[in-house]
Amino acid sequence: MRKKLVVGNWKMNMTRSQATAAIESLLLLIDPNTDVEVAICPTYLTLETVAHLLRRSHFHYGAQNVFWMPGGAFTGNVSASMLADAGCTFCIVGHSETRGRFGKLEVPESTLSYFSETNETVNLKLKALLYQSIHPILCVGETLAEREAETTDAVIYEQLKGALDGIEGVEFYNGVVAYEPVWAIGTGKTCDSAEASRVCGFIRRALTEIFDADAADSVRILYGGSVKGSNAADLFSQPDIDGGLVGGASLDADEFSRVVRGA
Ligand code: PGA
Repeated sequence: MRKKLVVGNWKMNMTRSQATAAIESLLLLIDPNTDVEVAICPTYLTLETVAHLLRRSHFHYGAQNVFWMPGGAFTGNVSASMLADAGCTFCIVGHSETRGRFGKLEVPESTLSYFSETNETVNLKLKALLYQSIHPILCVGETLAEREAETTDAVIYEQLKGALDGIEGVEFYNGVVAYEPVWAIGTGKTCDSAEASRVCGFIRRALTEIFDADAADSVRILYGGSVKGSNAADLFSQPDIDGGLVGGASLDADEFSRVVRGA
C-alpha cells in the first residue's frame, strides 16, 4: 500500500527567518502522527535551517534541483553528493520551470526556457540522485498547446521514456513521479480531478511498460498544479493520485496543513 505523500515546493521564496516561522507553524499545525508523508523542498540557502528545525520530526526535506556531475568547475551548481551530505530525502527534477516554464509552442524561441532542461539532462540528474540514494521527484506534464493538440499522453510518455532511459525498475523502486500540467502551475487553474487521475493512471501503465508491474506499483504518482486546501481532498481521493506537489499553497502554513489534511 503506497503511503500518501505531500511535498511543498517553496521555489525561490523564503528567507531564513521566514523559513523558520513557516516550519515552526507547520510543526504545530500538522498532526505528528499523520499517515501522510510530508516533505519540504526549500532553496539551497534555507536547506540547513529547515533540516535543523525538522531534525526530530517525521517530516522530510529535499532540494529543488541538482547538477549531475560529482564536482568541479560548474559555477552555480550543486551535486547529488552535496544534497546527500545535507540529508535530503528527495530532489525535484524536470520541473516545468527548469525545463522551460511557458512551453515550446507558446512563446518566441528567444524566451523558450529559463534553464533549458531536457529529457536527456533530466535522465543524468536522476542517475546522479539514485546513485546517492536520494528519491527523485520526476516532474512530467504537457503545455496548453500540447493538450489542445491532444498530444498529452504522447508528450508524457516521451518525457518518462527519456528521463528513465537506462534506469532499472529496481533502482526506481519507491520513486516519485509528479504529473504537473504546465497550464495549471501557479495559474489557479486546477486540472479536473477525473482527468488528473486518468493521466496519473496512464503514467502508471507507462511505468509498467518501461519497468514492470511491481516497480510501477511502488512508485508514488503525485498531482501538482494549483493544489490548495479546498481541492486537495477531491484530488487525493482519486485512485491513481498518491498525493501532491504543492507550490503556492505550501508558502502558507495554514493552507499547506489543510492540503495535508486533505490527503
Ligand atoms: P502551484 O505550483 O501549486 O503554485 O501551481 C506547483 C508546482 O510548481 O510544483
